[in-house]
Amino acid sequence: MVGLHKSFGDHHVLDGVDLTVPGGTVYALLGPNGAGKTTMVNILSTLLTADAGEVRVAGHDVRREPARVRSAIGVTGQFSAIDMFLTGRENLRLMADLSHLDRRSAARDVAALLDRFDLVEAADRRALTWSGGMQRRLDLAMTLITRPRLIFLDEPTTGLDPRSRREVWDVVREQVADGVTVLLTTQYLEEADALADRVGVLDAGTLVAEGAPAELKALVPGDSTNLDDVFLALTGHAASAVGATHTADAIAPTAPNASTAQTGPTDQETTAR
Ligand SMILES: Nc1ncnc2c1ncn2[C@@H]1O[C@H](COP(=O)(O)OP(=O)(O)O)[C@@H](O)[C@H]1O
Ligand SMILES: [Mg+2]
Repeated sequence: MVGLHKSFGDHHVLDGVDLTVPGGTVYALLGPNGAGKTTMVNILSTLLTADAGEVRVAGHDVRREPARVRSAIGVTGQFSAIDMFLTGRENLRLMADLSHLDRRSAARDVAALLDRFDLVEAADRRALTWSGGMQRRLDLAMTLITRPRLIFLDEPTTGLDPRSRREVWDVVREQVADGVTVLLTTQYLEEADALADRVGVLDAGTLVAEGAPAELKALVPGDSTNLDDVFLALTGHAASAVGATHTADAIAPTAPNASTAQTGPTDQETTAR
């Protein structure tokens, strides 16, 4: 993407972002709550239109060829795409049907994904009875059923316990080993460090730093991987005034759906800068 701009009213959320992710690599977009990460993912996945800038995904212009972009990508949103009243297996089948996958091979893929994500035992229980880690794995499995070559993961591990987080990391690594290109967003420098070839730090609508994880860590005094320390080192100010990086969310259970997971517009507003 070149010169990406997006405003909501007079709030310039993305204010001229240039970013390239080479095929087969992992790019981590690091930023606090309200930095514009989800906005960027939504633009890349054609759910939102940019105000200005050129954005190409898998070689296709998101504005002119949105259908081609959509058929090339898989997206795991910040909030779950799972239908909590369906079982895990039904959720995967539904996704396969929506993607017009061949019924018979889809059934095999569903079984393989349930197995891969350690969800076989729970597969025929409603998703709402599952733990946050299991739901997140199902969410990822639903993204992967179409075998996308390019995946966007919006805060894939926010709210997960350390074990579930590492499971998600393993999945990302497997995908990359298969040649898949990954753009993920995160509030955790350690996650970027664990997974990414390159990291971009988003602050006040622009990328304020970009490089290999080691390069960014070298800019931060001490061994800290705390986002506040990273931001202080890179921008001269804290990541946020309220809440964004106080890692309470790292240990809180994943909320079962968007309405409870969302912290609400006021919180987002106050943490925007
Ligand atoms: N549809 C919208 N209308 C108005 N403001 C929005 C909308 N979506 C996001 N915003 C605002 O844009 C900013 C960036 O939001 P978002 O992209 O969700 O950030 P992040 O994902 O990094 O937390 C926030 O201040 C948010 O309140
Ligand atoms: Mg977000």
